[in-house]
Amino acid sequence: MKIVVAGTGYVGLVTGACLSHVGHKVTCVDIDENKVEKMKKGISPIYEPGLDQLLKENFEAGRLDFTTDYKNAYKDADVIFIGVGTPEREDGSANLQYVYGVAKQIAESLEKDCLVVVKSTVPIGTNDKIEEYILENLKEKVKVEVASNPEFLSQGTAVKDTLRAKRIVIGVESKEAEGILREVYERFNQPLVVTNRRSAEMIKYASNDFLALKISFINEIANLCEVVGADIEDVATGMSYDDRIGNKFLKAGIGYGGSCFPKDTKALHWLAADHGYELKTVKASIEVNENQKFRMIRKAIQRFDSLKGLKVAVLGLTFKPGTDDLRESPSIPNVRRLIEEGAEVRAYDPVGVDNFKRIYPKDIEYVSAPEDAIRDADVAFVFTEWDEIKQVNLKRYKELMNKPVIYDGRNCYDLDEAVDAGVEYYSVGRKDIIA
Ligand code: UGA
Repeated sequence: MKIVVAGTGYVGLVTGACLSHVGHKVTCVDIDENKVEKMKKGISPIYEPGLDQLLKENFEAGRLDFTTDYKNAYKDADVIFIGVGTPEREDGSANLQYVYGVAKQIAESLEKDCLVVVKSTVPIGTNDKIEEYILENLKEKVKVEVASNPEFLSQGTAVKDTLRAKRIVIGVESKEAEGILREVYERFNQPLVVTNRRSAEMIKYASNDFLALKISFINEIANLCEVVGADIEDVATGMSYDDRIGNKFLKAGIGYGGSCFPKDTKALHWLAADHGYELKTVKASIEVNENQKFRMIRKAIQRFDSLKGLKVAVLGLTFKPGTDDLRESPSIPNVRRLIEEGAEVRAYDPVGVDNFKRIYPKDIEYVSAPEDAIRDADVAFVFTEWDEIKQVNLKRYKELMNKPVIYDGRNCYDLDEAVDAGVEYYSVGRKDIIA
Protein backbone atom coordinates (compact mmCIF):
# COMPACT_ATOMS: atom_id res chain seq x y z
CA MET A 1 0.00 0.00 0.00
CA LYS A 2 1.50 3.36 -1.02
CA ILE A 3 0.62 6.06 1.51
CA VAL A 4 1.24 9.76 0.91
CA VAL A 5 0.76 12.53 3.46
CA ALA A 6 0.16 16.12 2.33
CA GLY A 7 1.51 18.72 4.77
CA THR A 8 4.27 18.35 7.35
CA GLY A 9 2.89 20.38 10.27
CA TYR A 10 1.96 18.76 13.57
CA VAL A 11 -0.78 16.60 12.14
CA GLY A 12 0.78 15.64 8.79
CA LEU A 13 4.32 14.95 9.93
CA VAL A 14 3.41 13.02 13.07
CA THR A 15 0.89 10.95 11.07
CA GLY A 16 3.48 10.19 8.38
CA ALA A 17 6.18 9.30 10.89
CA CYS A 18 3.89 7.06 12.96
CA LEU A 19 2.43 5.26 9.94
CA SER A 20 5.96 4.49 8.73
CA HIS A 21 6.93 3.43 12.26
CA VAL A 22 4.32 0.64 12.20
CA GLY A 23 5.70 -0.57 8.87
CA HIS A 24 3.91 1.34 6.10
CA LYS A 25 5.80 2.92 3.23
CA VAL A 26 5.05 6.64 3.47
CA THR A 27 5.95 9.74 1.46
CA CYS A 28 5.40 13.16 3.02
CA VAL A 29 4.83 16.07 0.67
CA ASP A 30 5.62 19.67 1.47
CA ILE A 31 6.11 22.73 -0.75
CA ASP A 32 9.19 23.91 1.15
CA GLU A 33 12.43 22.45 -0.32
CA ASN A 34 14.47 23.50 2.71
CA LYS A 35 12.12 21.77 5.10
CA VAL A 36 12.22 18.59 3.01
CA GLU A 37 16.04 18.50 3.06
CA LYS A 38 16.05 18.93 6.83
CA MET A 39 13.47 16.20 7.41
CA LYS A 40 15.57 13.80 5.32
CA LYS A 41 18.37 14.38 7.83
CA GLY A 42 16.02 13.58 10.70
CA ILE A 43 15.54 17.20 11.73
CA SER A 44 11.91 17.95 12.50
CA PRO A 45 10.73 21.45 11.48
CA ILE A 46 8.56 21.49 14.62
CA TYR A 47 9.56 21.01 18.26
CA GLU A 48 7.99 17.74 19.27
CA PRO A 49 9.57 15.24 21.68
CA GLY A 50 10.57 11.96 20.01
CA LEU A 51 9.81 13.09 16.47
CA ASP A 52 13.41 13.65 15.25
CA GLN A 53 14.30 10.11 16.27
CA LEU A 54 11.25 8.67 14.50
CA LEU A 55 12.02 10.59 11.29
CA LYS A 56 15.64 9.47 11.29
CA GLU A 57 14.94 5.79 12.03
CA ASN A 58 12.23 5.41 9.43
CA PHE A 59 13.97 7.46 6.75
CA GLU A 60 17.09 5.31 7.17
CA ALA A 61 14.98 2.13 7.09
CA GLY A 62 13.60 3.28 3.72
CA ARG A 63 9.99 3.42 4.97
CA LEU A 64 9.68 7.20 5.12
CA ASP A 65 10.54 9.73 2.44
CA PHE A 66 10.00 13.44 1.84
CA THR A 67 9.46 15.32 -1.38
CA THR A 68 8.26 18.55 -2.92
CA ASP A 69 7.29 16.69 -6.11
CA TYR A 70 3.60 16.24 -5.31
CA LYS A 71 2.66 15.10 -8.81
CA ASN A 72 4.92 12.10 -8.67
CA ALA A 73 3.94 11.31 -5.11
CA TYR A 74 0.16 11.50 -5.65
CA LYS A 75 -0.14 9.87 -9.07
CA ASP A 76 -0.01 6.24 -7.94
CA ALA A 77 -0.86 6.57 -4.24
CA ASP A 78 -3.37 4.15 -2.72
CA VAL A 79 -4.15 6.45 0.19
CA ILE A 80 -3.45 10.19 0.52
CA PHE A 81 -3.82 11.83 3.93
CA ILE A 82 -4.45 15.57 3.96
CA GLY A 83 -2.95 17.12 7.09
CA VAL A 84 -2.59 20.79 6.18
CA GLY A 85 -3.70 23.70 8.39
CA THR A 86 -7.22 25.14 8.58
CA PRO A 87 -6.51 28.50 10.27
CA GLU A 88 -9.14 30.89 11.52
CA ARG A 89 -10.56 33.59 9.27
CA GLU A 90 -11.31 37.00 10.69
CA ASP A 91 -15.01 36.15 11.15
CA GLY A 92 -14.12 32.97 13.10
CA SER A 93 -14.86 30.54 10.26
CA ALA A 94 -12.26 28.01 9.10
CA ASN A 95 -10.03 28.96 6.19
CA LEU A 96 -10.02 25.94 3.86
CA GLN A 97 -7.77 27.30 1.13
CA TYR A 98 -4.87 24.93 1.93
CA VAL A 99 -7.13 21.87 2.02
CA TYR A 100 -8.65 22.82 -1.35
CA GLY A 101 -5.18 23.60 -2.72
CA VAL A 102 -4.07 20.03 -1.98
CA ALA A 103 -7.38 18.62 -3.26
CA LYS A 104 -6.77 20.36 -6.58
CA GLN A 105 -3.24 18.98 -6.86
CA ILE A 106 -4.53 15.49 -6.06
CA ALA A 107 -7.28 15.72 -8.69
CA GLU A 108 -4.80 16.84 -11.32
CA SER A 109 -2.18 14.21 -10.46
CA LEU A 110 -4.07 10.96 -9.84
CA GLU A 111 -3.51 8.17 -12.37
CA LYS A 112 -5.10 5.34 -10.35
CA ASP A 113 -7.92 4.77 -7.85
CA CYS A 114 -7.30 6.40 -4.51
CA LEU A 115 -8.77 7.01 -1.06
CA VAL A 116 -8.27 10.61 0.11
CA VAL A 117 -8.34 10.87 3.90
CA VAL A 118 -8.88 14.27 5.50
CA LYS A 119 -7.11 14.58 8.85
CA SER A 120 -7.29 18.38 9.01
CA THR A 121 -10.05 19.76 11.23
CA VAL A 122 -12.76 20.87 8.82
CA PRO A 123 -16.33 22.11 9.28
CA ILE A 124 -19.08 19.53 9.09
CA GLY A 125 -19.95 18.83 5.47
CA THR A 126 -16.52 19.77 4.09
CA ASN A 127 -15.52 16.21 3.24
CA ASP A 128 -18.58 15.87 1.00
CA LYS A 129 -17.58 19.06 -0.80
CA ILE A 130 -13.95 18.01 -1.16
CA GLU A 131 -15.03 14.75 -2.73
CA GLU A 132 -17.26 16.59 -5.21
CA TYR A 133 -14.45 19.04 -5.96
CA ILE A 134 -11.90 16.29 -6.62
CA LEU A 135 -14.32 14.36 -8.83
CA GLU A 136 -15.08 17.51 -10.83
CA ASN A 137 -11.39 18.28 -11.35
CA LEU A 138 -10.03 14.81 -12.12
CA LYS A 139 -7.78 14.65 -15.18
CA GLU A 140 -7.84 10.85 -15.48
CA LYS A 141 -10.78 8.43 -15.25
CA VAL A 142 -10.08 7.00 -11.80
CA LYS A 143 -12.17 6.18 -8.73
CA VAL A 144 -11.75 8.52 -5.79
CA GLU A 145 -13.47 8.59 -2.43
CA VAL A 146 -12.95 10.91 0.51
CA ALA A 147 -12.91 9.75 4.13
CA SER A 148 -12.73 11.71 7.35
CA ASN A 149 -10.17 10.69 9.96
CA PRO A 150 -9.84 13.46 12.53
CA GLU A 151 -6.73 13.80 14.65
CA PHE A 152 -6.70 13.87 18.46
CA LEU A 153 -3.02 14.38 19.21
CA SER A 154 -1.83 17.10 21.58
CA GLN A 155 1.30 19.12 20.97
CA GLY A 156 4.18 18.01 23.15
CA THR A 157 2.88 14.41 23.35
CA ALA A 158 1.96 14.02 19.68
CA VAL A 159 3.99 10.88 18.97
CA LYS A 160 2.76 9.05 22.06
CA ASP A 161 -0.83 10.22 21.43
CA THR A 162 -0.71 8.79 17.92
CA LEU A 163 1.04 5.52 18.63
CA ARG A 164 -1.13 4.92 21.70
CA ALA A 165 -4.31 6.71 20.68
CA LYS A 166 -7.42 6.18 22.81
CA ARG A 167 -9.48 5.84 19.65
CA ILE A 168 -9.26 6.18 15.91
CA VAL A 169 -12.30 7.77 14.32
CA ILE A 170 -13.04 7.05 10.69
CA GLY A 171 -15.90 8.64 8.80
CA VAL A 172 -16.70 6.76 5.61
CA GLU A 173 -19.49 6.47 3.08
CA SER A 174 -18.62 2.99 1.76
CA LYS A 175 -17.50 -0.43 2.98
CA GLU A 176 -14.55 -0.21 0.60
CA ALA A 177 -13.20 2.96 2.25
CA GLU A 178 -13.75 1.41 5.68
CA GLY A 179 -11.79 -1.68 4.63
CA ILE A 180 -8.84 0.38 3.40
CA LEU A 181 -8.67 2.41 6.61
CA ARG A 182 -9.01 -0.72 8.75
CA GLU A 183 -5.98 -2.09 6.92
CA VAL A 184 -4.01 1.17 7.39
CA TYR A 185 -4.67 1.17 11.14
CA GLU A 186 -4.59 -2.58 11.78
CA ARG A 187 -1.08 -2.46 13.24
CA PHE A 188 -1.97 0.29 15.73
CA ASN A 189 -4.26 -2.10 17.58
CA GLN A 190 -6.50 0.68 18.88
CA PRO A 191 -10.30 0.98 19.18
CA LEU A 192 -11.83 2.05 15.90
CA VAL A 193 -14.96 4.20 15.80
CA VAL A 194 -16.54 3.83 12.37
CA THR A 195 -19.21 6.33 11.40
CA ASN A 196 -20.27 8.49 8.49
CA ARG A 197 -18.20 11.45 7.33
CA ARG A 198 -20.31 14.18 8.93
CA SER A 199 -20.37 12.48 12.31
CA ALA A 200 -16.60 12.04 12.23
CA GLU A 201 -16.15 15.74 11.46
CA MET A 202 -18.50 16.57 14.33
CA ILE A 203 -16.71 14.22 16.76
CA LYS A 204 -13.56 16.26 16.31
CA TYR A 205 -15.20 19.65 16.95
CA ALA A 206 -17.39 18.35 19.74
CA SER A 207 -14.38 16.79 21.49
CA ASN A 208 -12.22 19.92 21.32
CA ASP A 209 -15.07 22.26 22.20
CA PHE A 210 -16.10 20.09 25.15
CA LEU A 211 -12.54 20.20 26.53
CA ALA A 212 -12.39 23.98 25.98
CA LEU A 213 -15.72 24.29 27.77
CA LYS A 214 -14.41 22.19 30.66
CA ILE A 215 -11.45 24.59 31.03
CA SER A 216 -13.68 27.68 30.86
CA PHE A 217 -16.02 26.12 33.40
CA ILE A 218 -13.26 25.42 35.90
CA ASN A 219 -11.86 28.92 35.31
CA GLU A 220 -15.20 30.49 36.16
CA ILE A 221 -15.51 28.31 39.26
CA ALA A 222 -11.96 29.42 40.16
CA ASN A 223 -12.92 33.06 39.84
CA LEU A 224 -15.90 32.43 42.08
CA CYS A 225 -13.70 30.52 44.56
CA GLU A 226 -11.67 33.70 45.02
CA VAL A 227 -14.79 35.65 45.90
CA VAL A 228 -16.28 33.10 48.30
CA GLY A 229 -13.04 31.93 49.92
CA ALA A 230 -12.83 28.43 48.44
CA ASP A 231 -9.70 26.84 46.93
CA ILE A 232 -9.96 25.73 43.30
CA GLU A 233 -7.22 23.09 43.58
CA ASP A 234 -9.13 21.34 46.38
CA VAL A 235 -12.44 21.85 44.57
CA ALA A 236 -11.06 20.28 41.37
CA THR A 237 -9.57 17.37 43.33
CA GLY A 238 -12.86 16.81 45.10
CA MET A 239 -14.77 16.83 41.82
CA SER A 240 -12.33 14.50 40.09
CA TYR A 241 -13.14 11.46 42.25
CA ASP A 242 -16.41 11.23 40.37
CA ASP A 243 -15.36 9.35 37.28
CA ARG A 244 -18.20 10.91 35.31
CA ILE A 245 -16.22 14.15 35.73
CA GLY A 246 -12.69 12.74 35.69
CA ASN A 247 -9.46 14.41 36.75
CA LYS A 248 -8.29 15.86 33.43
CA PHE A 249 -8.70 19.37 32.07
CA LEU A 250 -9.72 20.77 35.42
CA LYS A 251 -6.62 22.93 35.80
CA ALA A 252 -7.61 26.54 36.34
CA GLY A 253 -5.38 29.24 34.89
CA ILE A 254 -5.28 32.12 32.46
CA GLY A 255 -7.21 30.27 29.82
CA TYR A 256 -6.62 27.97 26.88
CA GLY A 257 -4.47 28.86 23.90
CA GLY A 258 -2.85 26.95 21.05
CA SER A 259 -3.76 26.32 17.47
CA CYS A 260 -6.87 24.26 18.22
CA PHE A 261 -9.25 25.22 21.04
CA PRO A 262 -9.52 28.94 20.22
CA LYS A 263 -9.95 28.20 16.51
CA ASP A 264 -12.26 25.20 16.87
CA THR A 265 -14.63 26.85 19.35
CA LYS A 266 -15.01 29.86 17.07
CA ALA A 267 -15.39 27.69 13.97
CA LEU A 268 -18.19 25.55 15.47
CA HIS A 269 -19.93 28.62 16.86
CA TRP A 270 -19.71 30.24 13.44
CA LEU A 271 -20.92 27.09 11.70
CA ALA A 272 -23.91 26.77 14.04
CA ALA A 273 -24.80 30.43 13.50
CA ASP A 274 -24.52 29.87 9.77
CA HIS A 275 -27.19 27.17 10.18
CA GLY A 276 -29.35 29.53 12.23
CA TYR A 277 -28.53 27.90 15.57
CA GLU A 278 -26.90 29.63 18.51
CA LEU A 279 -24.45 27.37 20.32
CA LYS A 280 -24.75 29.04 23.71
CA THR A 281 -22.34 26.89 25.72
CA VAL A 282 -19.53 27.24 23.21
CA LYS A 283 -20.15 30.98 22.97
CA ALA A 284 -19.84 31.22 26.76
CA SER A 285 -16.61 29.23 26.68
CA ILE A 286 -15.11 31.67 24.16
CA GLU A 287 -16.17 34.71 26.20
CA VAL A 288 -14.91 33.29 29.49
CA ASN A 289 -11.58 32.46 27.89
CA GLU A 290 -11.13 35.95 26.42
CA ASN A 291 -11.74 37.43 29.84
CA GLN A 292 -9.57 34.94 31.72
CA LYS A 293 -6.44 35.79 29.71
CA PHE A 294 -6.10 39.14 31.45
CA ARG A 295 -6.99 37.98 34.96
CA MET A 296 -3.47 38.37 36.37
CA ILE A 297 -2.57 41.65 34.72
CA ARG A 298 -5.85 43.19 35.85
CA LYS A 299 -5.05 42.23 39.43
CA ALA A 300 -1.57 43.73 39.08
CA ILE A 301 -2.90 47.01 37.71
CA GLN A 302 -5.30 47.16 40.63
CA ARG A 303 -2.47 46.51 43.09
CA PHE A 304 0.06 48.96 41.61
CA ASP A 305 -2.30 51.55 40.02
CA SER A 306 0.18 51.75 37.15
CA LEU A 307 2.84 49.39 35.85
CA LYS A 308 4.75 52.25 34.21
CA GLY A 309 8.49 52.00 34.79
CA LEU A 310 8.21 48.75 36.77
CA LYS A 311 10.67 45.96 36.01
CA VAL A 312 8.49 43.00 35.09
CA ALA A 313 9.64 39.37 34.83
CA VAL A 314 7.62 37.23 32.43
CA LEU A 315 8.03 33.50 33.00
CA GLY A 316 6.73 31.31 30.20
CA LEU A 317 5.70 32.40 26.72
CA THR A 318 4.36 29.30 24.96
CA PHE A 319 0.66 28.37 25.14
CA LYS A 320 1.55 25.33 27.25
CA PRO A 321 4.71 23.46 28.29
CA GLY A 322 6.35 20.95 25.94
CA THR A 323 6.01 23.03 22.78
CA ASP A 324 7.64 26.06 21.17
CA ASP A 325 4.27 27.06 19.71
CA LEU A 326 2.97 30.53 20.53
CA ARG A 327 -0.26 30.45 18.61
CA GLU A 328 -3.01 32.10 20.68
CA SER A 329 -0.74 31.99 23.71
CA PRO A 330 -2.14 34.21 26.50
CA SER A 331 1.41 35.56 26.95
CA ILE A 332 1.17 37.52 23.67
CA PRO A 333 -1.69 39.91 24.55
CA ASN A 334 -0.42 40.11 28.13
CA VAL A 335 3.08 41.17 27.08
CA ARG A 336 1.54 43.65 24.63
CA ARG A 337 -0.45 45.10 27.49
CA LEU A 338 2.63 45.26 29.74
CA ILE A 339 4.54 47.16 27.07
CA GLU A 340 1.59 49.51 26.50
CA GLU A 341 1.48 50.13 30.25
CA GLY A 342 5.13 51.22 30.08
CA ALA A 343 6.63 48.29 31.99
CA GLU A 344 10.21 47.09 31.38
CA VAL A 345 9.77 43.46 30.37
CA ARG A 346 12.34 40.72 30.84
CA ALA A 347 11.19 37.33 29.56
CA TYR A 348 12.18 33.71 30.00
CA ASP A 349 10.96 30.58 28.24
CA PRO A 350 12.96 27.34 27.80
CA VAL A 351 12.06 26.90 24.11
CA GLY A 352 9.72 29.68 22.98
CA VAL A 353 12.08 32.65 22.92
CA ASP A 354 13.15 32.43 19.26
CA ASN A 355 9.54 32.43 18.12
CA PHE A 356 8.60 35.24 20.50
CA LYS A 357 11.47 37.35 19.16
CA ARG A 358 9.73 37.29 15.79
CA ILE A 359 6.73 39.03 17.39
CA TYR A 360 8.73 41.27 19.73
CA PRO A 361 12.26 41.66 18.34
CA LYS A 362 12.90 44.65 20.57
CA ASP A 363 10.92 46.09 23.55
CA ILE A 364 11.79 43.00 25.61
CA GLU A 365 14.97 41.69 27.17
CA TYR A 366 15.22 37.92 26.75
CA VAL A 367 17.12 35.83 29.29
CA SER A 368 18.09 32.19 29.38
CA ALA A 369 17.31 31.32 33.02
CA PRO A 370 14.24 32.05 35.17
CA GLU A 371 16.50 33.52 37.85
CA ASP A 372 17.84 36.09 35.39
CA ALA A 373 14.28 37.21 34.65
CA ILE A 374 13.33 37.74 38.28
CA ARG A 375 16.61 39.34 39.41
CA ASP A 376 15.83 42.94 40.53
CA ALA A 377 12.27 42.71 39.18
CA ASP A 378 9.39 44.53 40.86
CA VAL A 379 6.73 42.08 39.67
CA ALA A 380 6.78 38.55 38.19
CA PHE A 381 4.12 36.96 36.01
CA VAL A 382 3.97 33.22 35.37
CA PHE A 383 2.18 32.49 32.11
CA THR A 384 3.29 28.88 31.38
CA GLU A 385 3.82 26.04 33.85
CA TRP A 386 7.18 24.80 32.53
CA ASP A 387 9.06 22.50 34.97
CA GLU A 388 12.05 24.87 34.71
CA ILE A 389 9.82 27.57 36.22
CA LYS A 390 8.06 25.39 38.80
CA GLN A 391 11.44 24.24 40.06
CA VAL A 392 12.46 27.76 41.10
CA ASN A 393 11.79 27.89 44.83
CA LEU A 394 9.72 30.87 45.96
CA LYS A 395 12.55 31.70 48.38
CA ARG A 396 14.66 32.53 45.31
CA TYR A 397 12.04 35.07 44.24
CA LYS A 398 12.30 36.62 47.68
CA GLU A 399 16.10 36.74 47.46
CA LEU A 400 16.40 37.98 43.90
CA MET A 401 13.47 40.31 43.30
CA ASN A 402 13.39 43.95 44.18
CA LYS A 403 9.99 43.38 45.69
CA PRO A 404 8.68 39.79 45.61
CA VAL A 405 5.23 40.30 44.10
CA ILE A 406 4.22 37.29 42.01
CA TYR A 407 1.19 36.77 39.75
CA ASP A 408 1.02 33.09 38.96
CA GLY A 409 -1.39 32.47 36.10
CA ARG A 410 -0.87 28.69 36.22
CA ASN A 411 -0.93 27.87 39.95
CA CYS A 412 2.62 26.54 39.88
CA TYR A 413 3.34 26.97 43.57
CA ASP A 414 1.98 25.83 46.88
CA LEU A 415 0.30 28.43 49.06
CA ASP A 416 2.19 27.18 52.17
CA GLU A 417 5.45 27.61 50.28
CA ALA A 418 4.46 31.19 49.47
CA VAL A 419 3.74 31.89 53.14
CA ASP A 420 7.08 30.32 54.21
CA ALA A 421 9.00 32.26 51.59
CA GLY A 422 7.46 35.55 52.65
CA VAL A 423 6.43 36.58 49.15
CA GLU A 424 3.32 38.39 47.97
CA TYR A 425 1.63 35.79 45.86
CA TYR A 426 -1.50 35.91 43.69
CA SER A 427 -2.79 32.87 41.80
CA VAL A 428 -6.02 31.64 40.19
CA GLY A 429 -8.94 30.53 42.36
CA ARG A 430 -6.95 30.54 45.59
CA LYS A 431 -6.48 32.99 48.40
CA ASP A 432 -3.99 35.82 48.01
CA ILE A 433 -0.86 35.59 50.13
CA ILE A 434 0.09 39.04 51.31
CA ALA A 435 3.57 38.97 52.82
C1 UGA B 1 -5.79 19.99 21.77
C2 UGA B 1 -6.51 18.71 22.22
O1 UGA B 1 -6.19 18.43 23.58
C3 UGA B 1 -6.14 17.52 21.34
O2 UGA B 1 -6.89 16.39 21.72
C4 UGA B 1 -6.46 17.88 19.88
O3 UGA B 1 -6.12 16.82 19.00
C5 UGA B 1 -5.68 19.13 19.50
O4 UGA B 1 -6.08 20.21 20.38
C6 UGA B 1 -5.99 19.47 18.06
O5 UGA B 1 -7.15 19.75 17.74
O6 UGA B 1 -5.09 19.35 17.20
P1 UGA B 1 -3.36 21.04 22.17
O7 UGA B 1 -3.89 22.27 21.53
O8 UGA B 1 -2.03 20.51 21.73
O9 UGA B 1 -4.39 19.81 21.98
O10 UGA B 1 -3.22 21.35 23.71
P2 UGA B 1 -3.94 20.96 25.09
O11 UGA B 1 -3.01 20.14 25.89
O12 UGA B 1 -5.28 20.44 24.88
O13 UGA B 1 -4.02 22.42 25.78
C7 UGA B 1 -4.74 23.50 25.18
C8 UGA B 1 -4.76 24.67 26.10
O14 UGA B 1 -5.59 24.42 27.23
C9 UGA B 1 -3.41 25.08 26.67
O15 UGA B 1 -3.27 26.48 26.60
C10 UGA B 1 -3.46 24.62 28.12
O16 UGA B 1 -2.67 25.42 28.97
C11 UGA B 1 -4.93 24.79 28.42
N1 UGA B 1 -5.40 23.92 29.52
C12 UGA B 1 -5.42 22.58 29.37
C13 UGA B 1 -5.85 24.51 30.69
O17 UGA B 1 -5.85 25.76 30.85
N2 UGA B 1 -6.31 23.70 31.70
C14 UGA B 1 -6.34 22.35 31.58
O18 UGA B 1 -6.78 21.67 32.55
C15 UGA B 1 -5.88 21.78 30.40
